[in-house]
Amino acid sequence: MSASPPIVVIARLLLPAGLESLRARYEVREGGLDVTREQLLELVPGAAALVADPTVPVDAELLNACGEQLRVVANFAVGYDNIDLAACAERRVIVTNTPEVLTEATAELALALTLAAARRMSDAERDLRAGRWRGLEPAAYLGLELRGATVGVVGLGRIGGRYAALVSSVGAEVLYTGHNPKPEAERELGARRLELGELLAASDVVSLHAPSAPETHHLIGEAELELIGPEGVLVNTARGSLVDAEALAGALERGTLGGAGLDVYEDEPDVPASLLAAPRCVLLPHIGSATVTSRNAMARLVAENVIAVLEGREPPDPVG
Ligand code: 8YV
Repeated sequence: MSASPPIVVIARLLLPAGLESLRARYEVREGGLDVTREQLLELVPGAAALVADPTVPVDAELLNACGEQLRVVANFAVGYDNIDLAACAERRVIVTNTPEVLTEATAELALALTLAAARRMSDAERDLRAGRWRGLEPAAYLGLELRGATVGVVGLGRIGGRYAALVSSVGAEVLYTGHNPKPEAERELGARRLELGELLAASDVVSLHAPSAPETHHLIGEAELELIGPEGVLVNTARGSLVDAEALAGALERGTLGGAGLDVYEDEPDVPASLLAAPRCVLLPHIGSATVTSRNAMARLVAENVIAVLEGREPPDPVG
């Protein structure tokens, strides 16, 4: 009698690009997009691998429900703030993520949000759809041109670095913050490293690319928004927790901040009512990595990480 194959639990959904290779090897159980926490707790017992995404908190309770044969938690994302790394380490569970393959998609979306917010596209489109367009108005929807603007990148990692190159290619000057200097960006883009406060005060656009962590929680609050100022634009494609959303909505409402482009929120999928009502604000539903190329590559990488661990090899993208 042959041993039954290991169980792989996909908490929600995995695209066929990754799913098929897992199905060919393992018993795969899927929670589906609308899985509840209770359903997930019932689905995971016996899992050797758990595939999660940023909407799935992977904590001690879920790990305990999986049981002792759990070997790997593979996140369908580059960020892994949904996973309790210490709880995984205690149980000798390997954690993996999907870096690199979503860099271009997310940087391009940050550029799109920058342009959309700087050119007030959301308000303009809303007015057009509501029948409020009265023809050319020379003084309406005046925005910021990126060529010649100063763009501050908070966190010049993979995505921040690619975003910096994109805005630089249309003629923006790049400033950045970060623990370490980035000589390549300084050489190739003329980027300059500043302290956060100096960067906020000097930038026309500020784009956030730092991970979610206790030290980045509400990194941008009322005082920081004031430094960006009434002509300035804030873009966030990183994590909602980096920004105090109420302070942001207030600044947009008062006109003490010029505009904002957001793809992420602190308590997704909830979007604060104050932000929904705020002017000069482009809001997207966390679609940073949502290109066909990126999402298929992420799904493949998830499967490669799971298969490597279950075959006793080093996975391509271990975390921590
Ligand atoms: C996810 C993200 O890829 O990778 C991340 O960290 O935030 C996203 O782009 C997306 O939420 C799908 O899991």
